[in-house]
Amino acid sequence: MLTATNLKKSFDGKTEVLKGVNLTVEKGEFISILGASGSGKSTLLTILGGMDRPTEGIVTLDGVNLGDLKEKDLAVLRRTKVGFVFQFFNLAPYLTVGENINLPLILDGKNVKNYAEKFDFLTKYLKIEHITNKMPAELSGGEQQRTAIARALIYEPEIVFLDEPTGNLDSESSEEIMQLLKNINSELGATVLQVTHSEHNARYGTRLIRIKDGLITEDTVLTPVASEEPAEEAEKTETADENVDTEDKAEKDNSEE
Ligand SMILES: Nc1ncnc2c1ncn2[C@@H]1O[C@H](COP(=O)(O)OP(=O)(O)OP(=O)(O)O)[C@@H](O)[C@H]1O
Ligand SMILES: [Mg+2]
Repeated sequence: MLTATNLKKSFDGKTEVLKGVNLTVEKGEFISILGASGSGKSTLLTILGGMDRPTEGIVTLDGVNLGDLKEKDLAVLRRTKVGFVFQFFNLAPYLTVGENINLPLILDGKNVKNYAEKFDFLTKYLKIEHITNKMPAELSGGEQQRTAIARALIYEPEIVFLDEPTGNLDSESSEEIMQLLKNINSELGATVLQVTHSEHNARYGTRLIRIKDGLITEDTVLTPVASEEPAEEAEKTETADENVDTEDKAEKDNSEE
C-alpha cells in the first residue's frame, strides 16, 4: 500500500539524514518507528506522508509515485489520503473542536453534513462528543490529541501518521491515547504509522521498526500488548503471551526476521 525504496535525504547537500531506507507498509498494519533523537524519524515520516520530498528514492501510495505529483496534487493527497497527528500545535486555535475535526472536509470543499454520521461515531469513539463546541485552549492535552486523531480519521485516510503523539502528555493520558490507537487499528482497521522514543509505546503496534543514523536496523513483528497490563517486560516478539488472545496471531508470533 505504501512503499519506500532507497530513500535518501540531505538538507545541506552533504550530511545524509536518511541513507537508503526501504519499507513496505501493508493495509491494516500498526507500525512503530523507534529511534534516538536525530536518527531521522520525523524526516522519514514527513517524506512518507508527502510533506517533503526525498533527495533520492521513491515513495508510492496506492501505486501512485509521489515524485510524479505536482505540488498542488501532493497537497490534495495530503488532505485526502493521509492523516497527520503531531506532538504539539495540532489544532487551529480559533476553531472549535468540531470545526477542527471537520477542517479536512471543509478545505476539500466537502459538505460536512454528509459526514455527520462519521463525525458522531468518531467523537463518541474518542470520548470527545461532549466537548465539540469548546476551543482547543480549554482542553487537556489528552483531549487535544483525541481531537487531532478524530480530525486525522474523518476523511477515512489510507494511512494515519503520528509523530510522538504522546510526547507532550502525562503517562496516564499517554496510555489512553496508545490504547485508542491500538483499537483504531484493530477495531476500525485503520493503518497506523507512529514515530516514538518510547519502547513501551512502540509495543502497542503490530510491527516495530528501529532506525539508527538514517538506516533501518530492525524490523520485527510484535505480539499484541494486553490491554491493562504494563508492557515493560515485553521483550522482542515471543514474550507477553499470557493474557493475550494469541490464537489467530500465532502465525505472526514466530515470524520475527
Ligand atoms: N529542515 C531541516 N533542515 C536541516 N536539517 C534538518 C531539517 N530537518 C531535520 N534536520 C536534521 O536531520 C536530522 C534528523 O532529524 P529528525 O527530525 O528526522 O530526527 P528525529 O529522529 O525525528 O529526532 P527527534 O526524536 O529529536 O524528533 C537532525 O540532525 C536534524 O537536525
Ligand atoms: Mg522527530
